[in-house]
Amino acid sequence: MPCLVLRLHLILLLSGAVSGNSVQSIEPDMSVTEGNAVTLSCSYSTSYSGVSLQWYRQSPNQAPQYILQRGAKGSTISDHADFALTRFTSETNATATVLIIKDLELADRAVYYCALNETQ
Ligand SMILES: *[C@@H]1O[C@H](CO)[C@@H](O)[C@H](O)[C@H]1NC(C)=O
Repeated sequence: MPCLVLRLHLILLLSGAVSGNSVQSIEPDMSVTEGNAVTLSCSYSTSYSGVSLQWYRQSPNQAPQYILQRGAKGSTISDHADFALTRFTSETNATATVLIIKDLELADRAVYYCALNETQ
């Protein structure tokens, strides 16, 4: 089975200049095998009271693609892109979010981004 490298980068989506928010990758680079599953993790801290933890990915020469989002700290947002319904899941709590991809395909080779967004 071919090996894929998934690269995890972190961005913070903020509507204004607000301090007290950060996101951090737990493991920046993952080498994984087609057909297997992988868990990508981001830890975060925020001064916001409702947040959404969003995952995006960008494949070479393509625009960034939204995958899914999960609310935390009082927000119950839960949403998936259509392509992500069956193989992508996320678990999010007050300090971290994980993206689990199963049955990895070569097309999953991308830079993955987690993003923190204020919801209220
Ligand atoms: C939040 O999720 C992360 C990643 O799964 C885990 O390591 C951590 O223990 C969890 N924290 C709490 C408070 O449940």
